[in-house]
Amino acid sequence: MDLIVANWKMNYGGRDSLQLVEGLLERIKEPLPGEAVLCPPATALFMVGDRLKDTPLQLGCQNIFYEKEGAFTGEISPDFTREAGSNYAIIGHSERRQHFDEGPEVSRKVEAALDSGMTPILCVGESLQEREGGKAWAVVRKQLEEALEGINSEKLVGLAVAYEPVWAIGTGKSAQPEDAREMASHIIKELSYMKGLRVLYGGSVKPENIADFMALEEISGALVGGASLKAESFAQLIYWEK
Ligand code: 13P
Repeated sequence: MDLIVANWKMNYGGRDSLQLVEGLLERIKEPLPGEAVLCPPATALFMVGDRLKDTPLQLGCQNIFYEKEGAFTGEISPDFTREAGSNYAIIGHSERRQHFDEGPEVSRKVEAALDSGMTPILCVGESLQEREGGKAWAVVRKQLEEALEGINSEKLVGLAVAYEPVWAIGTGKSAQPEDAREMASHIIKELSYMKGLRVLYGGSVKPENIADFMALEEISGALVGGASLKAESFAQLIYWEK
């Protein structure tokens, strides 16, 4: 089933988050054509989660810590995001890798999400320099290896991997569908042991281009930043086939 995920990043506090949710609920009807997940900032998780109860929209979080509780000031427990209603957890987003040096701990976060009953949306993707140097797949493969290291493969069921080339994020310049297809097929081959794997594409996805990616057999969904911040455009993305 298609999986369309809204990553609101650090936009919208509680009130604005709820307003966006209302705008979306006005524009959708059950059943949805696929799964649609909203990932608001952590401070809005409970509020949004409460509002989404008994609606077809699901909740996800943008980040978690790998411990469940304790002396980790400022961190976000996977159990708490789960308690707020999160079914999904975005992990290893390139903005976290870039600004917070995230990397080696990603595998612990993937495992923590699974242990708390959430589906990890593991983000991978190369920089422009790496792509131009012909290293895109080598970089992504290394990110996958690192992110899954030490996790019992039987646990890794239903994982979503979001291929987000760093140069396509927030730039308005998406990847070529053919490049996304090629990367997705590498990922699928590499992780062929995994049951229920879904590969998403992310990076300047908008209503005008989503069909180009969703038409590809290898791509099962989209991870959306900018175009998820308005009810109208995100609703169009949920109903991309219409
Ligand atoms: P944009 O859709 O704004 O390019 O952001 C993509 C992204 O980073 C989603 O996680």
